Amino acid sequence: METGVLDNPTNHICFEADASIKSILYTKEELDSAVANLGKKISNDYKGKELIVVCVLKGSVIFFSDLIRNISCDCKIDFIGASSYGCETQSSGVIRMYKDLDLDIKDKHVLIVEDILDTAKTMDYLIHMLKGKKPAGLKICTLLDKKARREVDVSADYKCFDVANEFVVGYGLDFNEEYRNLPYIGILKEEKYN
Ligand code: PRP
Repeated sequence: METGVLDNPTNHICFEADASIKSILYTKEELDSAVANLGKKISNDYKGKELIVVCVLKGSVIFFSDLIRNISCDCKIDFIGASSYGCETQSSGVIRMYKDLDLDIKDKHVLIVEDILDTAKTMDYLIHMLKGKKPAGLKICTLLDKKARREVDVSADYKCFDVANEFVVGYGLDFNEEYRNLPYIGILKEEKYN
């Protein structure tokens, strides 16, 4: 089957990267449903508040763009660039911040949106950095929570799924900058990173 064409009755596109995936953890439909539910909850909680939703580049960009379209209360968006992995499968633990916020978050309610909380060193760094800008409130939203690997005491205020300690890619999550464009979350075949 040629890639990039509709290949089955559910109209899913066949991606070249499908061949690197051991199994699908969450389908596009499961992600859509979980994100819609989370959006409703966030909308209720922030109604009437001045909300700034912050996307942590790059992994959360797909989740973020779907999530904000499910937030019905007024909000502004901003982006922060932080990276800890480089090209490895393990976090280096050293956070490199390459883009700061553009908006002033002082006295505003900030919701940080991540694709995954792993060791939570990235989030811990961001929390400390953003608290210094004196927001009215600061909460954490993550698509995936990999608690088995936590090294810092950080927990999510909002999340879609808990995940086991497996190497997951897709829906924004990468390995070596690949696989971000997969519309589902899958477990990467071990031979791809060993
Ligand atoms: C990933 C992910 C989180 C962070 C989580 O980002 O997007 O930001 O690692 O790991 P931690 O909880 O162990 O800190 P990465 O550094 O790979 O950059 P990317 O988002 O650009 O892929």
